[in-house]
Amino acid sequence: MIINIKDKIMKDKEKIIILTGGSRGIGHATSKKFWDDGWTVITFSRSEVAPQCPWSNNKQLHFQVDLENQISLDKTLADLEKFLRGRPVKALINNAAISPKKPNNSRLGFTDTDLSLWRQVFNVNFFAPIKISQSIIKNLKLAKGVIINVTSIASDNVHQFAGPAYATSKAALKSLTREMASDLAHEGIRVNAIAPGEIETSMVTPKSKKMLTEKIPMKRFGTPEEVAGVIHSMCSDTFSYVNGTEIQINGGQTV
Ligand SMILES: NC(=O)c1ccc[n+]([C@@H]2O[C@H](COP(=O)([O-])OP(=O)(O)OC[C@H]3O[C@@H](n4cnc5c(N)ncnc54)[C@H](OP(=O)(O)O)[C@@H]3O)[C@@H](O)[C@H]2O)c1
Repeated sequence: MIINIKDKIMKDKEKIIILTGGSRGIGHATSKKFWDDGWTVITFSRSEVAPQCPWSNNKQLHFQVDLENQISLDKTLADLEKFLRGRPVKALINNAAISPKKPNNSRLGFTDTDLSLWRQVFNVNFFAPIKISQSIIKNLKLAKGVIINVTSIASDNVHQFAGPAYATSKAALKSLTREMASDLAHEGIRVNAIAPGEIETSMVTPKSKKMLTEKIPMKRFGTPEEVAGVIHSMCSDTFSYVNGTEIQINGGQTV
């Protein structure tokens, strides 16, 4: 479906979603899902807007930013504010994350993770979601919007491939979801999390896929589109009384 950006912005009921990490994986599938449903999709990632993105000819909707870098993020948030011009934002999906591994793609354990790497992971996975959310509170308030933080199965369990820096950043994001839900409810903003299990994206290596599939009752990985579908539903009125919770998307891996 081809929708012109001007048509979208002119619509009275424009629905804006901002999503970090839209260039591939879960973020790309989610962006596409909302775009196909007629939303105005604004994405953040370090790479340029990917050619496979349906809005690739509308470069103004993509912000090239390194979430780890405070200067880059501050500049982008100032540009975003100018672009939004006070318009309501219906959804923010804090999706971008990094999960550093050893050079051979095995788990980077506690003693192998130096503090600078730990900080790098927290900057992207935890502090950027705080900063972005705080910067658009007034826009979310206008739309009675939704924030979805993308956590992980590793927030609650030691994972065979994801290391402690990643796991603790996701556990912190899970706690933050609860605190934000409580603090922002009176503004009309709902805050929830999704915790994907094993989803087929570039975060997964062929070796880890083979080993982890055995642990999943459904004996398969999830697809980015399946995660996108849940996020899309969580941003709809069907979820209007769901606040401060985390939805597991893992094929029963934690039962
Ligand atoms: N795949 C899984 O099995 C799985 C399981 C549990 C949780 N999750 C969570 O689901 C979310 C999406 O995961 P995914 O598998 O789709 O990941 P992915 O394929 O690795 O994509 C990550 C996205 O984040 C962006 N990103 C990474 N670092 C960034 C930075 N410093 N600044 C700006 N953007 C950055 C990437 O874009 P650029 O590289 O262009 O910057 C990319 O668009 C993450 O929060 C992840 O922790 C995934």
